[in-house]
Amino acid sequence: MFNTIPKGPLSFGLYITKFHKKWALMALISVFIATGFDRSSVIILKNLTDSITMDTIVMGDVWFWAIAYPLVLLAAHLFWRSSGFIGMRWFMNFRTSSYQALYNYITLHSKDFFSSRFAGALTNKMSNAVDGTESIFETILWQFIPLFIGLIWYVIIAWNESYLLGLIIAVWATIFVTLNMWFAKKLQPRSYKSAEAVSNLKGRIVDSLANISLVHEYANVKGERNYILRYIHKHREAGLLQWSLSEWILTVNGILIFLFVLLMVGTSVSLLQSGAISVGSVVMVIAIVSNLYGQFLFIGQEMRDTAKYYGQAKEGLHEILHEHTITDAPNAKKADINKGEIKIDSIDFQYENKKIFTNFSLHIPAGQKVGFVGRSGAGKTTFVSLLLRHFEVNQGNILLDGHNISQITLHSLRRAIAFVPQDTSLFHRSIRENIRYSNEHATDEAVILAAQRSEASEFIESLPHGYDTLVGERGVKLSGGQRQRIAIARAFLKDAPIVILDEATSSLDSQSEHAIQDSIEKLMKHRTVIAIAHRLSTLKKMDRIVVIADGKVIEDGLPDELLKKPNGVFKNMWDHQVNGFIIDD
Ligand SMILES: Nc1ncnc2c1ncn2[C@@H]1O[C@H](COP(=O)(O)OP(=O)(O)OP(=O)(O)O)[C@@H](O)[C@H]1O
Ligand SMILES: [Mg+2]
Repeated sequence: MFNTIPKGPLSFGLYITKFHKKWALMALISVFIATGFDRSSVIILKNLTDSITMDTIVMGDVWFWAIAYPLVLLAAHLFWRSSGFIGMRWFMNFRTSSYQALYNYITLHSKDFFSSRFAGALTNKMSNAVDGTESIFETILWQFIPLFIGLIWYVIIAWNESYLLGLIIAVWATIFVTLNMWFAKKLQPRSYKSAEAVSNLKGRIVDSLANISLVHEYANVKGERNYILRYIHKHREAGLLQWSLSEWILTVNGILIFLFVLLMVGTSVSLLQSGAISVGSVVMVIAIVSNLYGQFLFIGQEMRDTAKYYGQAKEGLHEILHEHTITDAPNAKKADINKGEIKIDSIDFQYENKKIFTNFSLHIPAGQKVGFVGRSGAGKTTFVSLLLRHFEVNQGNILLDGHNISQITLHSLRRAIAFVPQDTSLFHRSIRENIRYSNEHATDEAVILAAQRSEASEFIESLPHGYDTLVGERGVKLSGGQRQRIAIARAFLKDAPIVILDEATSSLDSQSEHAIQDSIEKLMKHRTVIAIAHRLSTLKKMDRIVVIADGKVIEDGLPDELLKKPNGVFKNMWDHQVNGFIIDD
């Protein structure tokens, strides 16, 4: 389901509706019948008037029409309501499927997609897309379709009295609808811009509030307010542009409707004068005119709103439905990676305009423990991102146990790697759920064992709700070191053949680090390990050290060997480190 989602709001709405055809069809039928009853009431009004204004009144006829009139209105009402009860199912299911489809789609975007967008703005775009398309389809069902069928019906009824009356309605309605569609088209880009401005404002407010401690720490509340104010103003300007055109549309519509009323009433009175139609017919025409008057005045606003929703939905869908950049290859296979051999075969990689690796090769046999060293910005984390296929290499291949990672499913690739990142992020869920995240089938005992092995159990048990404690957004209620220990527990529980530690103990004091070093050694046993660290002492026990600079391996060997090399880069770093840390020159 939801493989290829159309980007246009209308085609998106039709696509989603396909999953709920039954409700849509029943709602449409109800609306058809309701409109039929509703618009036919004017005929009864005509007959009622004629029966009253006859030279010799037949009370039986008068009563018949007098009772028929409210009965027809009641029938219309019942069908309107049934369209409501049925439409409600269509639209609530519509919402469900739309949110599901869009959320599923977003989750398949690559890291790159998210790093250049505000999460707050994306959430806003998703609800714009869903609310916008739903509103458009509601308007079509309950406003445009009844108006359209009603118009045809009125033309027939009026034509029956005098072709002139039918013609006026037909011609005028054509002009009115065409003009309003043209207006809506003009309005649409303004609505798109306005929706964009709103998303942008919301995204920036979320970003600002997410960093509110930073704002306070740098005493920059005023600066931040001014920064946001700029976007509030942009929002205002885009809104004014959109609204002013809408007001013009309503003004023109009002004048057109006035002309219509004038023409219809004038024509019917002159037809009465010439004896071509009855008093009842004049009453009917007035009823039709006053009905249409309300509907058209309203429809102008509906068109304006629809253009707005269309703009919002288009903007949202456009942003969300970007093509996925990192996906499973068409015949990607599930690979069973259990040894953990890593082979990097002359890869090139660059971010948008920054070259990181050129012709980079490296072979890590299964079970080897490699310390990855390089100055800040050398590309160590990028290397890990490439292994995890967060980004695609521009040239060359990466092979795990002989499988080219671009040819296997992302799921089987990422299952094979336990990654403890540089900045651990946690869900605002319980600690238990956060640890279990790496292995949903793990028992409570296994979770506790993993926490014990990562030296986390002590602090977890001292928390008010123990393993059930909620950690705050992104884990803000825990210290950096505590977050890292939870991430290490996660890695234990994942039990993957490859372990990657990116500065995994950087937030720990040396005592805690010492305590955890044992457990990390346990974690590393029988697995392939890539450990990135600025504190070189933590790499002393590795099987091998790889030093990278300028996108290349510049030194590679046993730690002790490299330390003996005169003028060696690693040795130089080692000699210059203070308390185990690399010092930048
Ligand atoms: N998503 C990105 N888009 C563009 N450039 C990026 C992106 N991520 C990282 N870079 C750039 O790539 C270079 C390598 O970054 P990377 O994070 O791999 O360095 P690192 O070796 O892990 O450094 P550190 O030791 O500070 O963690 C940096 O210059 C960085 O600015
Ligand atoms: Mg890094």
